[in-house]
Amino acid sequence: MSSDEATLKQVEECIRRIRDPEIGRSLGDLNMIRSVRSQTDGQIEVAVELPTPVYPNRERISAAIREAVAESCPEAPAPDVVFSSTVRGSESGGTIGLQIKNVVAVGSGKGGVGKSTIAACLACGLKAAGARVGLMDADVYGPSIPHMLNASGHPAATELKTTDGQTINRMQPIDAGGIKLMSMGFFVDPDRAVVWRGPMLHKALTQFLKDTEWGELDYLIIDLPPGTGDVSLTLSQLIGLAGAVIVCTPQQVALLDAVKAIDMYQQVKVPVLGVVENMTGEVFGRGGAKKKAEELGLPFLGEVPIEACIRIRGDEGRIPALFEEDNPARPHLMGICEQTAIQIARQLLETPKMPQLEVL
Ligand SMILES: Nc1ncnc2c1ncn2[C@@H]1O[C@H](COP(=O)(O)OP(=O)(O)OP(=O)(O)O)[C@@H](O)[C@H]1O
Ligand SMILES: [Mg+2]
Repeated sequence: MSSDEATLKQVEECIRRIRDPEIGRSLGDLNMIRSVRSQTDGQIEVAVELPTPVYPNRERISAAIREAVAESCPEAPAPDVVFSSTVRGSESGGTIGLQIKNVVAVGSGKGGVGKSTIAACLACGLKAAGARVGLMDADVYGPSIPHMLNASGHPAATELKTTDGQTINRMQPIDAGGIKLMSMGFFVDPDRAVVWRGPMLHKALTQFLKDTEWGELDYLIIDLPPGTGDVSLTLSQLIGLAGAVIVCTPQQVALLDAVKAIDMYQQVKVPVLGVVENMTGEVFGRGGAKKKAEELGLPFLGEVPIEACIRIRGDEGRIPALFEEDNPARPHLMGICEQTAIQIARQLLETPKMPQLEVL
């Protein structure tokens, strides 16, 4: 082994032991080091693969790598750290033929707390960061996602031939700025109420999930109707959800309902990824959801202030505009995307895996 190779080996050994600041395990254990190699100018390049494109403050990893190399291999030059990302996922939709790495439900106890807004923002933020994203509006009674993303049309039906010669019918999702979107809103007259019994709802949702040509996705975000457990139960029976994001406003009445919703997800064995406090500000107060999350031992995914621009962009069908550089809501919304993605990665990669306790 040349001295060059020996140095690279030594550098790799020392950076493998660095703890990832978000998930808390070593970069080596998490398989996050793609390569350590010499460049033509004699510099060392360390290629790190993040588990999500919305990994927060990745500079902490480059700083830790440079520091560890300076300390343990003082003869080696300071390394260049380059990042890429490959979303990790449980591929849990595989049993019903989906190629979706992570299915994430967005729910709440109370209605009107901003679930659809947060679901649309999660999809837009993850998309803006480069992930392959789908969004399914499972609120069959009040589908609002198509309006928020200014998407309309009728999903085209296509016939596909399987390898064993069978013909299956698939629906093409509507493209909403690169997000694959499916909603009951595309099938019903916007002014007509949908009156359905539980089994029909179950069937419609199953079809939406299974018969849509989602293709390969990193994240499929599902906007749930408020309250009831039947839709969540349907979903959890069909696929292994990566987890549920609970949206809540800071005031007491909303928190009580959120606690019930969390209990319901836990009963149907859907992991709760964490709680988002939406509409923080003078009207509803601040910090209630964070405190409740802490009490329940759940991650807090961040707060989104009550801001006229969020309501206005939603009404205009321009939710993606909230992610423009100068938008005041952007850092909050991006923070929610980051924390959600990190919790998904953590659930997947964390060891030892804690057994889920039954909520009595
Ligand atoms: N942080 C915020 N600041 C200002 N307005 C907001 C905020 N979040 C949501 N809104 C607005 O509040 C209203 C309700 O939001 P949204 O439709 O997302 O709630 P929901 O929980 O999905 O409601 P439903 O229970 O009816 O499905 C919308 O007009 C939306 O634009
Ligand atoms: Mg809604």
